[in-house]
Amino acid sequence: AAADLGPYRHYMQKEIFEQPRAVGDTLQGITAVVPELFGAAAQHLNEVDQVLILACGTSFYAGLTAKYWIEALAKMPVAVEIASEYRYRESVPNPRTLVVTISQSGETADTLAALKHAKSLGMEHTLTVCNVATSAMVRECELAFITRAGVEIGVASTKGFTTQLAALFLLAMVLAKSKARLDQEQEHQLLRKLRRLPKAIATVLALEPQVMDWADKFARKENALFLGRGMHYPIALEGALKLKEISYIHAEGYPAGELKHGPLALVTEAMPVVTIAPKDELLEKLKSNIQEVHARGGELYVFADANTQIHAEDNIHVIRMPEHYGMLSPILHTITLQLLAYHTAVARGTDVDKPRNLAKSVTVE
Ligand code: G6P
Repeated sequence: AAADLGPYRHYMQKEIFEQPRAVGDTLQGITAVVPELFGAAAQHLNEVDQVLILACGTSFYAGLTAKYWIEALAKMPVAVEIASEYRYRESVPNPRTLVVTISQSGETADTLAALKHAKSLGMEHTLTVCNVATSAMVRECELAFITRAGVEIGVASTKGFTTQLAALFLLAMVLAKSKARLDQEQEHQLLRKLRRLPKAIATVLALEPQVMDWADKFARKENALFLGRGMHYPIALEGALKLKEISYIHAEGYPAGELKHGPLALVTEAMPVVTIAPKDELLEKLKSNIQEVHARGGELYVFADANTQIHAEDNIHVIRMPEHYGMLSPILHTITLQLLAYHTAVARGTDVDKPRNLAKSVTVE
């Protein structure tokens, strides 16, 4: 098995570095089926005016990110539910809903059961974003966007997640088109960004040595906070999940504006605060959140886009991201957080590819 690791130490590292290829293949594969969506399957899209996303774990965070994209581009309301909760609560079904399940394996018992529950409530328009074309999930759904991550061995999902994000961004574009809410120029501009995404990811992967320097310090901590705002909030949640899954450091993701309502009480020099700082319309607000932490003696680790004017100083460490990538920026920012979790876990000597108590695919409830 070690033979197919090539130059990498673990499958997780290999899979992180496969992302330019995985995302590129996914985009190509789905773009090929998109015209079909406007043919025979168009009926599904014409008959829906809201979206319900069902998923677990990392796939759930892909769903949370997609909510920002779909609402912004297609102007359709999106609800995102943890599959194991949705199936057991009384919800309000609406037949004009596109039910979207997200699952790397396509076999997660809770997600399958949530899908069946939604169908039993009369919601028949179903689409899955799934990495396994032969899975139960694909069989149970009317439409499928197959991601082409390839086999993912590391229990903590990496290329599985970014390929889901790429697929979900295309879905947001497809929904926007079906509602005539995407003009040609915007469409071309977004497609250009998508096509260049594998290259942009490769540039971010080149930051690995800088992230490794941080990981050595991180490995000595027992708690960490991850801050993000807007569409980077789900990325902060995913960054925290990744770190706890494989390094066993307790980590929480928070929307930065919510700090003052609780987590600020935890800020001391013992609690590193990882901050995602894209150059977007929330930047100035985020900078004041950074100052709030700094003023209380917190230690910040900031992934800052170019031109954010966030500079390293005492207790503020900065890694500069190559560029701001607009609406697709969450995909780039998640890569650096994967590297941080990975190298922290390696420094702590944990079993990175097979963290204790966790399974790659949870096929029982
Ligand atoms: C397990 C895995 C996670 C994954 C989740 C959902 O908990 O350890 O990495 O995100 O299941 O899996 P799915 O295959 O449905 O995406």
